[in-house]
Amino acid sequence: MSIEDPWDRATARTYDTPGTGMFAPEVLGPTVDRLAALAGGGRALELAVGTGRVAVPLAERGVPVSGIELSPAMVEQLRTKVDEDAVPVVVGDMASARAPGEFSLVYLVYNTISNLLTQDGQVACFRNAARHLTPGGCFVVELWVPELRALPPGREATVWHSEPGYLGIDTYDVLAQRVVSHHVRFGDGTDAQLFRSAHRYVWPSELDLMARLAGLVLEDRWADWDGSPFTADSRSHVSVYRLPQDQPVGGPRAAG
Ligand SMILES: C[S@@+](CC[C@H](N)C(=O)[O-])C[C@H]1O[C@@H](n2cnc3c(N)ncnc32)[C@H](O)[C@@H]1O
Repeated sequence: MSIEDPWDRATARTYDTPGTGMFAPEVLGPTVDRLAALAGGGRALELAVGTGRVAVPLAERGVPVSGIELSPAMVEQLRTKVDEDAVPVVVGDMASARAPGEFSLVYLVYNTISNLLTQDGQVACFRNAARHLTPGGCFVVELWVPELRALPPGREATVWHSEPGYLGIDTYDVLAQRVVSHHVRFGDGTDAQLFRSAHRYVWPSELDLMARLAGLVLEDRWADWDGSPFTADSRSHVSVYRLPQDQPVGGPRAAG
């Protein structure tokens, strides 16, 4: 397994944690409620759909959901829950792959735009989201806010989460705008399990510029799926970018 592409079969098999963590009802409920409302009765496309953590309950809510996903192993897990008719998936790169049809909602959650490790890749992802949208549709991004304030001069690492049996450590390369997350799980003994993933961190303002390059306009930014105000202390955000009604499909966003 590579640090830049950790989504292999072993990761996929242990990804789901039904009822807890990112699968807890208090996490998933508001996510699905918000996305269902933003779909506005239209079709939804999830970029990096994974094992269907969000897509499956959203489809069960009556929203037609399609997906794009790079890892066949993650799609294999999704297929243990729903078939191709319920949630069709194109296996490919969310920065370039085309899913059939048009959508009133495209969404990319759980910090996953940061899995694209270059600015070019992230810009292409916005453009790809925009070209799947019907005029008036929206692209929703959930992403953490880079915690560089926790990084004193001369330090390259932060512990961003600590609880019994778990440590979350980030190591930074601020020149390359990269961070590697190290998830360490351990019990009472001396053994520990390590899962690592590489990310390109992005400020909200840089995301907004990528959206403008793609012909999208920032409509809302909240601290969470419940719509709490986004403040200077928010650790994460949910941002809604709208494709204007008069924006022709394949218009300026397709150029340059
Ligand atoms: C943190 S998981 C999120 C999965 C799902 N969206 C969720 O919320 O549970 C990240 C997913 O992004 C996928 N991924 C990473 N880079 C990708 C890319 N360039 N194109 C499509 N999928 C990608 C991985 O394979 C993995 O399934």
